[in-house]
Amino acid sequence: MDKILEKLKKQALDEFTKIKNSQELEDLRIKYLGRNGELTKLLKELKDLAEEEKPRVGKLANEVKLALAEKLDDLSLHLQGKAKNSIAQATDLTLPGQPVKTGSLHPNTIIQYELEDVFKALGFRVLEGPDIESEYYNFEALNIPDDHPARDMQDTFWLTSGEVLKTHTSAMQVRAMEKYGAPLRAIFPGRCFRYEATDASHDSTFYQLEGLMIDQNISIANLIAVMKELLKGVFGKEVKVRQRPGYFPFVEPGFELDINCLICGGKGCSVCKQTGWLELLPCGLVHPNVIKAGGLDPEKYNGFAFGLGLTRLVMMKYGIDDIRLLQSGDLRFLKQF
Ligand code: PHE
Repeated sequence: MDKILEKLKKQALDEFTKIKNSQELEDLRIKYLGRNGELTKLLKELKDLAEEEKPRVGKLANEVKLALAEKLDDLSLHLQGKAKNSIAQATDLTLPGQPVKTGSLHPNTIIQYELEDVFKALGFRVLEGPDIESEYYNFEALNIPDDHPARDMQDTFWLTSGEVLKTHTSAMQVRAMEKYGAPLRAIFPGRCFRYEATDASHDSTFYQLEGLMIDQNISIANLIAVMKELLKGVFGKEVKVRQRPGYFPFVEPGFELDINCLICGGKGCSVCKQTGWLELLPCGLVHPNVIKAGGLDPEKYNGFAFGLGLTRLVMMKYGIDDIRLLQSGDLRFLKQF
């Protein structure tokens, strides 16, 4: 029996050296160690041995089995390594990569992020409000009572619930004051809705970016300094501005800040309606009634607010001459950014 075992071991190990692939390896595993394998058959015969022979031969048989199993495991690992190497060899790492199709940011989002960076650097926090807004925050709290003609300035989508689709980002002013108190520096980028007949420069959906700064002794000089910083951030250079009086019930005094038309350089063109100037930034010092609505003492605190026409700015920056392209979802347009 000892000799048979030794012979089997030698024969098996010999055959193992010739293995070339994992199929051959599996075949040999079955041939020797499988249920009807040669070694398995021998192990079954152990029970017929004389009682005193059993322990010794049994031990030997086990050693042979372990030796074969170990060798097969080694070979298997070796073959796997080889397979990996051959894959690595088949991959030419110097070949140019396959292009990956990724989306891109909407031009509106690109400019919004740029502005957020400018304002974060100035210590402003970025807040967003709901699209469906109460009449209170959209009008009432902003010093625009129910019967006030200023409500007509903003053609409004009214919901049957009595709420509105927010007509301007100013709706966040009082919400922010209520939540964060004073001093406060915040911007509110957001989507606004107006019941407009659409044309190249009007859409029922557009974006604004509101700014609000509340503290003690805020002046118009602070307002203009921040506006200039904003424009520098967006256009990468100083832009000529002019200020005109403007009326909004939630600021006093109120202004329109115009920028020199960047399409014609101020000479006059169709975009600036031949004036050389573009209305871009309505702004002013926050009305005491609004400060009060925000839960603050207008004797102690004041501040400025502005409502940047984000959509208009995007059109200026990229030379887009039809506002409807922005919400069109047309990939031929969007892929350019
Ligand atoms: N919310 C105003 C509008 O949409 C703009 C504005 C904002 C004016 C802040 C003054 C101060 O017309």
